Amino acid sequence: MSKIILTGDRPTGRLHIGHYAGSLRRRVELQNSGEYDKTYIMIADAQALTDNADNPEKVRQNIVEVALDYLACGLDPAKATLFIQSQISELCELTFYYMNLVTVSRLQRNPTVKAEIQLRNFEASIPVGFFTYPISQAADITFCKATTVPVGEDQLPMIEQTKEIVHKFNAVYAPDKPVLVDPQALLPEAEACKRLPGTDGKAKMSKSLGNCIYLADSADEIRTKIMGMYTDPLHLQVSDPGHLEGNTVFIYLDAFARREHFERYLPEYADLDELKAHYTRGGLGDVKVKKFLNNVLQEELEPIRNRRTEFAKDIPEIYHILKKGSDAAREVAAQTLSEVKQAMKIDYFEDAEYIRSQSERYAE
Ligand code: TRP
Repeated sequence: MSKIILTGDRPTGRLHIGHYAGSLRRRVELQNSGEYDKTYIMIADAQALTDNADNPEKVRQNIVEVALDYLACGLDPAKATLFIQSQISELCELTFYYMNLVTVSRLQRNPTVKAEIQLRNFEASIPVGFFTYPISQAADITFCKATTVPVGEDQLPMIEQTKEIVHKFNAVYAPDKPVLVDPQALLPEAEACKRLPGTDGKAKMSKSLGNCIYLADSADEIRTKIMGMYTDPLHLQVSDPGHLEGNTVFIYLDAFARREHFERYLPEYADLDELKAHYTRGGLGDVKVKKFLNNVLQEELEPIRNRRTEFAKDIPEIYHILKKGSDAAREVAAQTLSEVKQAMKIDYFEDAEYIRSQSERYAE
């Protein structure tokens, strides 16, 4: 069986280092590993509209931002199909048929949707489209028969929902020869990368909280954000013992610092364990740790920022790449949709046997 990757992001803002540590960095490695037959990367504009219905301009403006972030990180249109969700109308058709396989109470139990409803104060007025986006996400994943979905931990409920739809669809409509493929989530290996907190220590980086470090941030912006980061409120004097739990600077170091970084920027420590030991013992100031984190992140983000600037010099070319990707994705989606309709036996005009049986019924 082919190995196929699909993943994507909502274009509601530029991508930040949470996206990078949680999924983008891994996608590029997977794309370059040569182990996958196909890689699809989707800009999920239709999903973004499910909770931005009254602000389509925000979504529209961020298509190119996300595309630039992708290319800057090393996603390569020669190796991966980059496309825009709304351009694949087949996804809506798939969603419509999958809706019959999911109950309202099942959607209500989805923890990510629940959290988002709270975050957006939707309680009394949840848009139906938003409520059902896990089903549309199942269409995103199944249209290309994805086997592997590299995502952050918050997306696990969507993969779970997709699996249920795949199993139910195959059991009901294609028991002898399964049509849809069961996907697996691929989570980041390091615990810290699964859910990078905001620079203020809040659980999630989010544009509205203003606690993100963006891939497009300048060197100065990155430095300022790091120097203002939340650490350990009990660590008042350098000599005080510091705490690592919930300490954003150390969580970021967990996600980004490697041994080479210590050799280059902080040779008095062999690795992060030694640095942590000193911090918890007392006698190590926050500023020193923050300066180290700044060196680490600057080294990681500088080449990305430079590539982004290069790609941004030819914006029409970015749209050309997305159009080519969308055309290719649409072809694959049309094929899957036709298999789905055939399995559901709603491909009436292609089904000569069906037409014959109906005419026989009338000849009796
Ligand atoms: N829900 C994802 C997010 O909020 C975006 C997304 C849409 C996605 N469809 C997908 C991710 C399919 C993985 C697979 O970022």
